[in-house]
Parts: sequence; structure tokens; C-alpha cells
Amino acid sequence: MKIISPEQLSEAAECLRNGGLVAFPTETVYGLGANALDPVAVAGIFEAKKRPTFDPLIVHISDKNQLNDLFLAPIDLLVFRLAEKFMPGPLTIVHRKSPVVPDLVTSGMENVAVRMPAHQVAHDLIRLAGIPVAAPSANLFGQLSPTSYKHVAKQKMEIDYLVAADDVTHLVGIESTVVLVENNTCTILRPGIITAEDISTAIELPVTIAAKNHKISSPGLLNSHYSPTKPLHFIDNLKVLPEKTGIILHAASHDSLNAIRTIYTSQNENLREVAAALFTSLHQMEDDEEVEQIFIERVEEKGIGISIMDRLKKATYRYEK
Ligand code: TXA
Ligand code: MG
Repeated sequence: MKIISPEQLSEAAECLRNGGLVAFPTETVYGLGANALDPVAVAGIFEAKKRPTFDPLIVHISDKNQLNDLFLAPIDLLVFRLAEKFMPGPLTIVHRKSPVVPDLVTSGMENVAVRMPAHQVAHDLIRLAGIPVAAPSANLFGQLSPTSYKHVAKQKMEIDYLVAADDVTHLVGIESTVVLVENNTCTILRPGIITAEDISTAIELPVTIAAKNHKISSPGLLNSHYSPTKPLHFIDNLKVLPEKTGIILHAASHDSLNAIRTIYTSQNENLREVAAALFTSLHQMEDDEEVEQIFIERVEEKGIGISIMDRLKKATYRYEK
């Protein structure tokens, strides 16, 4: 794996065109990209991530015109209204796929997921490559999503390039909101920083949130996901922490209970700040040799809090059950 700076992007773009694998920053989490139109290149992603099954991938674009190539005509008008309001940005649109999209990208489903990242480096890489780029988060199966190139590097995946560009100014920190558009209606398949209320206000239509057993939401949405390698629990009503515990709090005024390590994601429970610091704080605890287990506070399940708790319930699942 070659680690390069954003000044060397054209090298990585050429690698993508030739069927290689490139990890790159986005405003949500790092992605592991391959040429979305080349099934052999896409198969390399699953191999590098050691995914036991083929989950459908998000196809990343740098220009809204690419929506016309990837989605099947006639495209719902709602797709363009959403694109107008939220692209580039942390919104992924799922809609009927055109025949150019390989089945491996969509796990054989009729729909394809498309997103246009707002991160300048991601944008430049996709534009230079001149192809749509299929990319899941750049972590081994089941591990925490990476928000820094260092988090990608420590996974030791077999990839060609890693673009090192940690720009935290616009970091969202959790994966994009995934929304299914069908018959000019909108259903949220994965919550993110763009909430159902944000979308419904922008398009002036009601937005549904998919039930857990929604036929399209199920692929890739496992109960357990994004887990740190050390036990992670909700702090809830604990008054005394076990030894060698790291604690993650969301406000400076909250009691750190004499933990050996404390990380504050925010000074005052600002949920955007909590989201931006969420995976980063978990990685920090994971990498800290003094810490043997992690406790984290919940947030209220409203607005962005729903998306934060979605990630945390998955991250704690294997340790809390
Ligand atoms: O922010 C993000 O979305 C990041 C960055 C790299 O763009 N990507 C990401 O990819 O989180 P991944 O593979 O970790 O998650 C993709 C999600 C999964 O929940 C998957 O089920 C859903 O998108 N998805 C992808 N294609 C789909 C499809 N055709 N139909 C329904 N859901 C789909
Ligand atoms: Mg992922």
C-alpha cells in the first residue's frame, strides 16, 4: 500500500482506472474505492475488506450528470429534487439501476445507491479518474469506520493507495443518510446527519423511515457492526467504573467517575460535534494501551441523536447482549 498526499491524486486516479483499490477521505468516513463499472475491480473491495457476503456498495460521483448514466430512465423527479438540495453532501440516493451498473455493485438488486461527496479530495479523485467509484467504508468487516487515514492504515488491508488528507473542518463523522426513492416517495434506509425532517422540509413531502425488516434496508444493515476491538458498553447508571476503563462523555460537566482516560466528544452535548467525534473517540480508546474496556454515554434519540444511537447500538451490540 502506498500512502500519498492529495498532490499526488492523479496517480491514484490512474490506479482506479486500471482496476486498482484506493482508500480516500470523504466528509463522512474514509471510503475504499474501485471502478464501479468493472466487476473484477469491485470484487477486490470485498476481498480486501474480508466481507463474508457481498453487500451492495454506494457508487460515488463527482458530477450530477452521472445520475443519468447510473439510474434507469425515466428517473423519478424526486431524485433530481434531492440532488439539487443535498448533492454534494452526506446523502445517498437509492433508485432503479441502469444496465451499466454491474450486479456485484448492487448484490443483484434492481436498485443502485449513488452519492456525491462534498470533500474536495474525494471530488477531485473521482473527477480525475473519470469513472464512477464504488466504495464502502474503508475498514475490515465489522470494525469501526475510519475517520482518519491512520485508522485505515492500522487495518492493514491489501490495497494499492491510501490518500492521506485528514481535513476535520467539515467532518460529519458518521456515514451518509441512505434514502430510497420509489414511485416519487422517499424512505430512509439508514439514518445520518441529514435527518428525515431535513429532507421532508426540503422536498415538501412526507418521508418514511424504513422498518427494521424492510426488504431493501436489510442488506448490509446487520445488528452488530462498527465495533471496537475492546468491550464497549453504555454507561447508563454506573456509579463506579471498573479498573482500566476509558469513558466517552458528551458534555464537559458530566462526571468522569475517575476513569483512567476520558474523552469529551463535545463541551455541551452538541450533537453535530458528538457525531463528528464519535468514531474518532472510539478509535482513540481502541489504540490506547492502558484502556481495556470502554464506556460511553447515550444521547437522546431525536434528530441527529437517532443516527448517533443507531451507530452506538450496533457498536455495543456484541458486548451488551
Ligand atoms: O458515508 C458513506 O455512505 C460512506 C462513504 C465512504 O461514502 N460509505 C458507506 O458505505 O458507509 P457502506 O458500504 O459501509 O454502507 C453502504 C450502505 C449499506 O447500509 C447498504 O445496505 C446500503 O448503503 N446500500 C448500498 N446499496 C444499496 C442498494 N442498492 N439498495 C439498498 N441499500 C443499499
Ligand atoms: Mg460500513
